[in-house]
Amino acid sequence: MTTTAIRGGLVITATEEIPADVLVEGERIAALATPDSAFARSWTVDRTLDATGKYVVPGGVDAHTHFDFPFGGTASSDTFETGTRAAAWGGTTTVVDFAVQSRGASLREGLDTWHAKAEGTCAVDYAFHMILSDVRESSLKEMDLLVGEGVTSFKLFMAYPGVFYSDDGQILRAMQRAAGNGGLIMMHAENGIAIDVLVEQALAAGRTDPRYHGEVRKALLEAEATHRAIALARVAGSPLYVVHVSAEEAVAELAQARDKGLPVFGETCPQYLFLSTDNLAEPGFEGAKYVCSTPLRPREHQAALWRALRTDDLQVVSTDHCPFCFSGQKELGRGDFSKIPNGLPGVENRMDLLHQAVVDGHISRRRWIEIACAAPARMFGLAPRKGTLAPGADADIVLYDPHARQTLSATTHHMNVDYSAYEGKEITGRVETVLSRGEIVIDRRRYTGRAGHGRYVPRATCQYLA
Ligand code: URP
Ligand code: ZN
Ligand code: ZN
Ligand code: ZN
Repeated sequence: MTTTAIRGGLVITATEEIPADVLVEGERIAALATPDSAFARSWTVDRTLDATGKYVVPGGVDAHTHFDFPFGGTASSDTFETGTRAAAWGGTTTVVDFAVQSRGASLREGLDTWHAKAEGTCAVDYAFHMILSDVRESSLKEMDLLVGEGVTSFKLFMAYPGVFYSDDGQILRAMQRAAGNGGLIMMHAENGIAIDVLVEQALAAGRTDPRYHGEVRKALLEAEATHRAIALARVAGSPLYVVHVSAEEAVAELAQARDKGLPVFGETCPQYLFLSTDNLAEPGFEGAKYVCSTPLRPREHQAALWRALRTDDLQVVSTDHCPFCFSGQKELGRGDFSKIPNGLPGVENRMDLLHQAVVDGHISRRRWIEIACAAPARMFGLAPRKGTLAPGADADIVLYDPHARQTLSATTHHMNVDYSAYEGKEITGRVETVLSRGEIVIDRRRYTGRAGHGRYVPRATCQYLA
């Protein structure tokens, strides 16, 4: 068993900031101690990491990734191997990816397929949500089994008719089942039936450029779906987690529900906090790089998202990492924005972008760790092993240099995608060293991990309700 001391850093968790030394024994954190205390000095260890001038923070928990995800006639370009390696580079040590139930197939078949994709290839730990795309009696029964084996959350889509879409009756049934088995329903809240009408009309009128993707997927149709999802969850008596919230009007629906005391939660993503419809309108089909759903919004929506992250009307920032190369993938939608595969890369950038938000004064350092590590861990049943630094927790630890400067770019990132959504963006702060269950996977900006180190983590049910 390797023992490691991390000395001299500022330990930051969601609840405190203290100069502390950290003792790691094998895969777990054994102790935190006041630097230079007799206790800290008594540790005899195999190796010591000098964290002087650095933050010592929990490894990030990205609760929304799509590796090797078949979508839009192609598949997302990061595999579990490349995607989890990029996650490690960016200080994220746990990902929760979405296994997919295909139409006509069982949840079991979908889950087995995703296990096979991930097994033996991951650089960091991973878990699964399940996408329900065929809610019928047998699927509902299978939900109970999945909750029992650690797949405790289920994503439903009010968007994408004919693909992942569920109607309100199917949604209500799934929510009722979740109310009984402790599962958490995650909702893609956009009125897909109405959006498809607007898509058809836009294309018929010759509006084929990427920016029309943002115009037809209206904020009002996100807010309407969010409102409806909340109402259905209320009727079913189930909690609800709304994914990739981007519209100010949708945030207002969540805030109103939370003010009533309802168990309603929300996630946003860095792209909605840092990018906007200005990007979608970039000339020469460049806008395709920014096509995702829910879509990027006009810049004015960002203030509402930041405020909600501060007031806890939104609890989590995940990436919705779903990369498609510009060349050969995004290009499928030249001349028809509706054929651009939806999704953005970001698993490597999330911790840095949110640190930049600390530098910019949007959130505090502790809130950074709450929304990027602790809250997603609790929301998805990964606490207390993930998301914090405490004795007994997994030694998923990031040594973060808050003063280093870096420029985000596709030429230096490690995600398997030919562009960066944040090309040229300057960031203050950088991941220096990363431990995943006690193993150093990034050592002073060098990758020292390996495919297969990452383990599957079965999850408990949502710990936000207890
Ligand atoms: O555009 C997105 N978000 N692609 C991934 C699939 C989803 O809806 O999360
Ligand atoms: Zn979605
Ligand atoms: Zn409120
Ligand atoms: Zn997604």
